[in-house]
Amino acid sequence: MSTIATIPTLRLDDVTKDFATGTRALSGVSLSVSRGEFVSVVGPSGCGKSTLLRLASGLDTVSGGTLEVDAAVTSFVFQDPTLLEWRSAQKNVELVGELAGVPAAERGRRAREALSLVGLDGFEKQHPRQLSGGMRMRVSIARALVAEPQLALFDEPFGALDEITRLKMQTELQRIFQLKSFAAMFITHSISEAVYLSSRVLVMSGRPGRIVDDIELPWSYPRPPELRYEPEFGRIAGRISKALEDHS
Ligand SMILES: Nc1ncnc2c1ncn2[C@@H]1O[C@H](COP(=O)(O)OP(=O)(O)O)[C@@H](O)[C@H]1O
Ligand SMILES: [Mg+2]
Repeated sequence: MSTIATIPTLRLDDVTKDFATGTRALSGVSLSVSRGEFVSVVGPSGCGKSTLLRLASGLDTVSGGTLEVDAAVTSFVFQDPTLLEWRSAQKNVELVGELAGVPAAERGRRAREALSLVGLDGFEKQHPRQLSGGMRMRVSIARALVAEPQLALFDEPFGALDEITRLKMQTELQRIFQLKSFAAMFITHSISEAVYLSSRVLVMSGRPGRIVDDIELPWSYPRPPELRYEPEFGRIAGRISKALEDHS
């Protein structure tokens, strides 16, 4: 345990979010995510998970409480890869640099490096329609990571993938997280995905979303896929499942 106090990358203190429609989406949410931490949020549909990420990304503002971000770059990965169909994988990833005015040679190099990081060497010239669902998501992740974010936000990125691809993507994301060590906030419906990937899992209640459980995972990285069959893994998944049932 270090005695040097570190500033969290993302910190929410007693955050409430009300929409103009009168809907209260979040109530009294306090949490923090620091560099090297992978925090998952699980909760029932409509409980305010996407709202939470939108607040963290600065796309929307809190109604009450405080939210602080200590990151020069924040990235966002959505469930839909949202790639531009008329641009190659390489050009989709380069878009970020283009918008930021990075010179062509440099942004080309960075995009190739990001595509390599997600295992897409040799697929640079392919267009989205020529890629599988898993590969499109890899491009989306490369595009998010090319700007070297300190805070990476993921909104159910693997929700639309088949089970086998999903497990592969979990292994990949874990490897990338270890390598880059950003602060990660990850929304998922899958309890086992949350337990496998996270250093901490937050469980949210039904709307208005509150945090009803906060579970520190006991394993270091990298984690073998077989961890999913360990009794401790099942015990923690059961605790999350119970918390979801009790607070839906
Ligand atoms: N822009 C908005 N205006 C009004 N209500 C919204 C808006 N965005 C989300 N909501 C409502 O807030 C609640 C939480 O939504 P959301 O954060 O998308 O939930 P989740 O991602 O957990 O499924 C829902 O009831 C939703 O209808
Ligand atoms: Mg959502």
